[in-house]
Amino acid sequence: MLSQSFYLLGDAPASAKTIAADENASLDDLKDLIASHFAIVVADGVGFTRGDDALSNVKEILSSEEAIAISVDGHAVRAVPGPKGLPYIGNFFEVFPDHLGNHQRLFEKYGPVFQTTNMGGTIYHSNDPDIAAIAFAESDFFTKKITESHPLYGIKTPEAGVFLGDTDTPEWKVTHKFLPPALGPRAVRHYAPTMQKTIESAYKVFDELDSIGQSWNVYIYMLKLGSQAVAKLTLGMDMEHFAHKDAPVHEMVHLIAETLHLNKKVTSYGSWYANLPFGDPKLLRTKKARMEVLVEEQIAKAQSGGVEDLPLQEAAERAANMVDYAVRATDNRGEKLPKTSLREALVVATGAGFTTTSSLLSWLIYGLVTYPGVQEKLLQELVDNDFSDDMEITAEFTDKLVYLDRFIKETQRRHNPSFQPGRTAKADLILPGGYKVPKDTVIIPALHHIHNNPALWDNPAKFDPDRWDTPEVKNRHKAAYIPFAAGPRMCIGFNFALQEIKIFLPKLIYRYNFVKDGDETIEYDPMFQLIRPNNLPRSAISVSARTSQSVEPSHNITDTGNYAPLRGHMQALSPSYASRAHTSHAPAPVAFGAINTLHDDTHTRLDSERQRDLDEEQSGAELSFAARGQGNSNSGTPFYTGEQPGVTSLIDVREPLPRHIMLKPNPPSVIPQVDHDFLQRKGALSPLLMYSHQEVLRAYFHHVHPMLPILHLSKLQEFELPNAITPHGMLLYWSMAVVAVNFVPSDVWKAESFTSRKHMKDTMYNRAKCMYDNSGETDKEALLQAALLLSFWHSERDSHSQPWYWSGVAINWCQIIGLHRDPDAARVNPLVSPQRRDLWRQLWASCLVRDRWLSLTLGRPLRIRLSDCDMPFPILKDVLNDLDTLPARLRDLYVPKDLSVMVKHWVLLIQLSRILGDILSLFYQQLGKQPTLSQFDTLESELNAFVVPASLSAHPSPLASFSYYHLQLHLQATLITFYRPFVSTVPEGLSSGAEESWMARVRSRMESAATQSNGILDCIAREGLVSFATPTTPPLLVPAMHVHLLGCKSDNRLTRRLAFNKLEMCMTVMRELQKTHTSASIFCGVFGEAIRQLMPGPLDETIWGVTQIRRPSTAETMAPGNTQAANSDDFSPQPIVTDDILESLLNETSTYNFWESMNMPDQSFIDYKRC
Ligand code: HEM
Repeated sequence: MLSQSFYLLGDAPASAKTIAADENASLDDLKDLIASHFAIVVADGVGFTRGDDALSNVKEILSSEEAIAISVDGHAVRAVPGPKGLPYIGNFFEVFPDHLGNHQRLFEKYGPVFQTTNMGGTIYHSNDPDIAAIAFAESDFFTKKITESHPLYGIKTPEAGVFLGDTDTPEWKVTHKFLPPALGPRAVRHYAPTMQKTIESAYKVFDELDSIGQSWNVYIYMLKLGSQAVAKLTLGMDMEHFAHKDAPVHEMVHLIAETLHLNKKVTSYGSWYANLPFGDPKLLRTKKARMEVLVEEQIAKAQSGGVEDLPLQEAAERAANMVDYAVRATDNRGEKLPKTSLREALVVATGAGFTTTSSLLSWLIYGLVTYPGVQEKLLQELVDNDFSDDMEITAEFTDKLVYLDRFIKETQRRHNPSFQPGRTAKADLILPGGYKVPKDTVIIPALHHIHNNPALWDNPAKFDPDRWDTPEVKNRHKAAYIPFAAGPRMCIGFNFALQEIKIFLPKLIYRYNFVKDGDETIEYDPMFQLIRPNNLPRSAISVSARTSQSVEPSHNITDTGNYAPLRGHMQALSPSYASRAHTSHAPAPVAFGAINTLHDDTHTRLDSERQRDLDEEQSGAELSFAARGQGNSNSGTPFYTGEQPGVTSLIDVREPLPRHIMLKPNPPSVIPQVDHDFLQRKGALSPLLMYSHQEVLRAYFHHVHPMLPILHLSKLQEFELPNAITPHGMLLYWSMAVVAVNFVPSDVWKAESFTSRKHMKDTMYNRAKCMYDNSGETDKEALLQAALLLSFWHSERDSHSQPWYWSGVAINWCQIIGLHRDPDAARVNPLVSPQRRDLWRQLWASCLVRDRWLSLTLGRPLRIRLSDCDMPFPILKDVLNDLDTLPARLRDLYVPKDLSVMVKHWVLLIQLSRILGDILSLFYQQLGKQPTLSQFDTLESELNAFVVPASLSAHPSPLASFSYYHLQLHLQATLITFYRPFVSTVPEGLSSGAEESWMARVRSRMESAATQSNGILDCIAREGLVSFATPTTPPLLVPAMHVHLLGCKSDNRLTRRLAFNKLEMCMTVMRELQKTHTSASIFCGVFGEAIRQLMPGPLDETIWGVTQIRRPSTAETMAPGNTQAANSDDFSPQPIVTDDILESLLNETSTYNFWESMNMPDQSFIDYKRC
């Protein structure tokens, strides 16, 4: 024995294995040995190479100093190739709807084995008969194991044993022992008379259709015929499908179809769902129970005459049907098929039997009307074999119908119903050609593509029954034609199917002339598990009865292939149809997405309109697929299917499905080079210096996160190192920076070479915006987070419209993902992970808060209608749940110690914002009704009940103190907003005479709230917390300032003076805020201007601190290099107020329309004058 190192060519030599081999062994023995070590399925293909040399001498191989590389069929070992595919949907759109055509294209592109992914599952396909034979063999390499990627996974039914169960199960073994004898050739022969009666019983209906000249839908009638025949054989059941022409499809056919559908749905949700006592699981149990009753009835019927135990074969040949057979059949150990297996197996066999045969019958009729001359030849053959309608058709007779046999074979070659029998790899292995196949891979020997492989079939697209008489076809590869699959798991019903067809077709052809009505091209159904005609409802067949004497026997049929012309009532094929027959088309790309449709002379001519329809159907199907829980992942890209009457809500047929589903996660797409270069040039891909980065991150998590918790704290890990942030992560990074820069020390913007904080903020915004527009980000949550953050950015250039714009974008994203709806409304939605659910609540609440306060400040309509929403509001634990998992290092550096206190304030703010929304929609609606006293009372009691706990922390940090004062400011602003409309008007329902005292009470509360605001500002200023103010702080001062401004109009000097004092205090703080927050500039400018109008003439400098409000022109503000206003870290006493802003404020119906206040009716002046 010699030891040698061997490795697979294509793998690294370092992976070599040392294998001991006999130096005297033959080359074949060595190949076998190596094949067994490397799981190479066919040892014959093993080759040995060293460098460029191929070695065939065993001694030389074993004594080589260098490790020996192993090739397979002359190839290096390689991964199976395949198209790249899109995130989540994979190659779905590249394959569907014309999966036959597109798989053919992929075979042409990638060779005999390729892989595709579809909705997360990967499948290998092969059109190689060698590989098909290996896969079907049920060996050490492959078996039928229905895993998640297997095409039958959705309807897997282990109890059935056959068809829908795995080979390696006791159920399959026992069922597979009992069932096949009942469908063997001898058993099937004795069913011939029953089959004959079945077709004869259908005459009545076809005759009627002929007599009234009505076209009929081939598939529906073939479905009736196929199921009638199969149910008679399997269940002994007469479905009475031909009692009259409109006879309904039998309950059992519906039950089978429905249970298959429900089963697919229920199994895909997991076992917890299957056990639910309601909904689909219940419906499935009801349907199954009903089927059991029907099958039990048949079993009881079979047993009623007394049952004689018989050996399997004898039972098979004597039984009236399969139920009858099963109750009698006894194996040599005296055992019978267990009743549970019997029930399921019979149902599955019935389903497998009728769906396939009805499709094949439809394609056969399609062939009759499509391929010129075929119908005539078949008829001629019958005549030549002395067929008569009243004769008994036997196997001996059908054996003589050679052309019929070829016609059936050629139809099954071109249009076989089954196309994707899957087998699963039992181990990591290497297929012929050197393809690596990992364990558990599902491979599909693609029946249609094997049957149409040009390497195996001459001119495969041509429908040519006569090819079956050629030596090439007679000597074909054993797996070149496998319509019923092959190996132990091949079809057990093929004898039955072929016999049925060979009885039905002659009877039909002899009696009727088939003509296709209309010239619509027939397409196959791309979404069915079988190839069946799709559009037959729009393309029907009519029959006309033949007269038996219309056809004369011919001579030399098989010799010459010239058939005598038929006479009588044969109708000509419609010219348009005939002209299309036999035209072969080259594969042509269709101009829709990635779909290419392979046109051939039979299956598909999907015109562009139809193609588009199918695309849309496909996306619908995809959503439906995901909504039904396929894939069952909770880590994908969120998608919200929408509500009634939205189109996607139709997915919901019987009971509500989850509206929130997860599409497969989008792998981070690569930013195209041109965009990458652009972003690079804009600086959007280069993070800040480490020092600035840490300060920005700290500022974000200390000042922004507690009042806008829209990120998981775990983001800190992702963002810890600036250079480790992915290109896509930069969108969120810059968006966070836009807000965080408000709070960083000034050496940060200096270190980054910005001329001011504002300059840095502008740049952060520009980078975020560049990323938003050019990075191709598809993560909707990230886009939403970015939009929310960008809504805190103001720019004078566009009249401060950015907050409204971006908050609208954020709300749109919310509604696109469906964050306004509770994903668990009906039941816990397993597709949404608990973590994600927490984040969604936070995102949603943040949008709501933003919406309410922006609407108040800007006097714009509310964009969120809470009556459409049921997303629960977040609670403290939602925000803090990942705090413990954060490394201590990051917690200490970035998380404020009083985070929980601040978050409690935020949770209260949500509650307050909800009340504010009610106030705005009830009292400020421009076209709304006059508010009533009871509405006023309800809201007032809600506001009275809203209490900000005095201290949520024993020794609050400055941050927590600010957060407390901030919430208080929100409360006072809400109170003023609430009372303000009633200073000049009373609600409906107030008793007359009470108006004056009521309004006085309201005014006093409003003024008290305004005064409280000043008190709070005083605390903020005294405790040195002004620098903690956020971009939302300046607007909170406005309601109080407005009240003070009204006080400035008082006739009473003292009142006026006090109001001026209070207003001045607010203005002082506002000017302080103006250093950092641009929005404060607007308020300074506007209030200054209002006062100037109110008090024309020289102002008392001691009161206003400014002698003249300067109003720079727009051009001046926008002039490049104008850093005076921008350099807001240095106090600029001039409020920045452009003509634009003033004008827009003058023209807008703002809640705080100061000019309206100036022109308030005299009554209000009088009130103030009285004070
Ligand atoms: C044109 C007609 C038919 C075609 C093309 C066809 C095709 C096939 C194919 C390809 C398979 C293998 C499926 C796989 O490996 O996943 C199969 C299995 C099977 N077929 Fe058919 N079939 C036909 C008719 C019938 C009929 C009439 C019956 C019963 C009355 C039947 C009963 C079955 C059963 C029980 C299996 C599962 C065998 C097992 O799991 O071991 N088939 N058929």
